[in-house]
Amino acid sequence: MTEMVLRPTTGRVAAPAIDMSTTLAGASFPNPVFTASGCAAAGQELDQFFDITLLGGVVTKSIMLAARPGRATPRMAETPSGMLNSIGLQGPGIEAFLDKDLSWLASRGARAVVSIAGGSVEDYAKLAQKLRGRPGLVMIEVNISCPNVEDRGQVFACDPQAAAAVVQAVKRATAPGIPVFAKLSPDVTDIASIARACVDAGADGLSLINTLLGMVIDTTTMRPALGGVTGGLSGPAIRPVAVRCVWQVRQALPDIPILGMGGIRTGLDALELVLAGANAVSVGTTVFGDPTAPVRVLDELARALVERGFDRFEEAVGLAHRPPVSHVPEDPDPVGDTPPPAPPVRFEGQA
Ligand SMILES: Cc1cc2nc3c(=O)[nH]c(=O)nc-3n(C[C@H](O)[C@H](O)[C@H](O)COP(=O)(O)O)c2cc1C
Repeated sequence: MTEMVLRPTTGRVAAPAIDMSTTLAGASFPNPVFTASGCAAAGQELDQFFDITLLGGVVTKSIMLAARPGRATPRMAETPSGMLNSIGLQGPGIEAFLDKDLSWLASRGARAVVSIAGGSVEDYAKLAQKLRGRPGLVMIEVNISCPNVEDRGQVFACDPQAAAAVVQAVKRATAPGIPVFAKLSPDVTDIASIARACVDAGADGLSLINTLLGMVIDTTTMRPALGGVTGGLSGPAIRPVAVRCVWQVRQALPDIPILGMGGIRTGLDALELVLAGANAVSVGTTVFGDPTAPVRVLDELARALVERGFDRFEEAVGLAHRPPVSHVPEDPDPVGDTPPPAPPVRFEGQA
């Protein structure tokens, strides 16, 4: 196979004959690999390990209106094939974020996807308003896995009406041309119905999935391991759940862009989500053990696509939903008894 290289100056994967670009609701990205919210702050730390402009986009930690200290310690617990965190939405508040983080991302030339979070519909609207016209902003991700302080702490993402109200308010306050993606929780019975409510309310796309609610008890202290008692489960353990959610939402809403995430460690993990229907992917928990994981995943994904005969990344999006096209092979030995070779499996839409 011919050698593939990443060109640091352009951020494009210069794989021979593979176009890695992707489009999410009209926004163009040179490639489909992003960071995941909360796993790479605003990108400064990762930029010490690789040029963050190589990534399709940098998704920032969810930002709220005011500065927040986060939840009680300990805030992390290991689980088999996963991690449980109860960091809470610790952060500097929107003003400091705009001054320090977003301006840094813009000066670096990174494509910033700003994640916002709030305790009320009004909080979300105010955050979106503050982002209007900011250089560097290419997309907004609305983290609706937050308790609604005006409704007994009911998580927005678990109720179609509450989720829709947030999306509608954010969409109204957002400048035209900036896609608004709603980030959904897998902790619901029917994720497609929440997805549909968000899209009907104006969401341009969906991010799938946030962490699953979990809990660990320390058998030595015989008490909950996390200060916050429960936490969000992430990492390889949740990948099959992410694949299932992306698959179900792609099936229900065939034309809506999806940013897929959950347990991606390798290019093949990313490919799995793409085949299920993701138009781009975010790399999260893996970054804590391997800060170069996002660019490695990008390189591995490009190689995997070339090996499978694709010319463009976008040909692979949702391919697992399409039925295989059967090719009747020519029998090289029509009268003899040599069995014909097995046909290569090709799919509709594959070049
Ligand atoms: C430490 C940590 C902090 C996170 N913080 C946020 C956050 O601020 N906003 C958000 O929408 N998701 C947050 N997430 C969820 C991730 O963005 C991602 O959806 C989830 O972890 C699944 O991907 P992964 O398994 O690759 O980590 C966080 C995850 C982790 C592990």
